[in-house]
Amino acid sequence: MDKPTILVVGATGQVGSLLGPALLKCGAHVRGMIRTPERAAALPAGVEPVVADLRDPRAVAGALYGVDAVFLNSPSAPDAADLQIQFAERARSVGVPRLVLLSQYAARSDSPVRFLRWHAAVESYVRALGLDEWSVLRPNLYLQGALGFAGLIREQGRFGAPIGTSAVSAVDVRDIADAAAVVLTRPGHHGRTYTLTGPRAVTHAEIAQALSEAVGAEIAFTDVPPEAFAALLRTMMPEWQADGLIEDYAHYARGEAAEVCPDVAELTGRPARDLTDFARDYATAFRPAQPAGRG
Ligand SMILES: NC(=O)c1ccc[n+]([C@@H]2O[C@H](COP(=O)([O-])OP(=O)(O)OC[C@H]3O[C@@H](n4cnc5c(N)ncnc54)[C@H](OP(=O)(O)O)[C@@H]3O)[C@@H](O)[C@H]2O)c1
Repeated sequence: MDKPTILVVGATGQVGSLLGPALLKCGAHVRGMIRTPERAAALPAGVEPVVADLRDPRAVAGALYGVDAVFLNSPSAPDAADLQIQFAERARSVGVPRLVLLSQYAARSDSPVRFLRWHAAVESYVRALGLDEWSVLRPNLYLQGALGFAGLIREQGRFGAPIGTSAVSAVDVRDIADAAAVVLTRPGHHGRTYTLTGPRAVTHAEIAQALSEAVGAEIAFTDVPPEAFAALLRTMMPEWQADGLIEDYAHYARGEAAEVCPDVAELTGRPARDLTDFARDYATAFRPAQPAGRG
């Protein structure tokens, strides 16, 4: 490929918004798929906007025109698996040579976690589709997920989740984007499934400790019962999503997501970012606002 054109689905999302710049750095032409023209403002500089909702097959076909590779992220929707499957089918029918699927750590068709069953269904569809080249990325819990607690941490200096003392090999989203950029732009990844984790498994108390040190103020972690966490989540998101997150957390609490894999380092050629890197680089998001009048 000379200057490959790469379509990023979910280009405004957590991984997609970092993947665009990573692909530009690799010399690719990047097309960012957005649902409405207004979302173009959220795209990173240098990424070409293309308006296509996953629910609009004609627009999706247009977005896929002339594309050399596609990054298929999952939308937050109860029919996410169907939408991804329809997208993958369309990519095959227009002859896209390479598809990289964002799945999740421990995706399994018999998982008690609905998101992992959904990801497993898309994975097995993509594997059987007959694309020229496909690869699967299975990231563990995102370290940037802690940003979801940032408001609470800034206001009250604490956060909670139903995970107890179980450790998770949470991964920095910047590493997912860097690894995805390699798989999308370089040969040799056909048929491979990569497990993307951090360099160690960390407990939520260790996350609190790392954030405390980076912010320079005490941040406490409290284990909370799943029912209380679910009640809080249901005030913030639809029920299917809150229930799915509770299942995710039960899986973490069972200690099923502590495995550390070398794939980030092997793909990117450097060690995966540690929790302390995340805490240092994102400290501002967790630091309480200074009262007016103080330096
Ligand atoms: N969070 C974690 O710790 C974690 C860990 C492992 C795997 N994952 C997986 O990552 C995936 C993404 O989750 P996320 O929360 O990080 O979301 P995200 O990628 O930050 O956001 C979803 C993206 O999809 C776009 N989108 C939503 N509906 C769409 C539609 N109908 N058509 C086209 N684009 C659409 C959104 O566009 P707008 O900007 O317009 O909303 C946004 O860019 C999920 O499958 C999740 O299972 C997450």
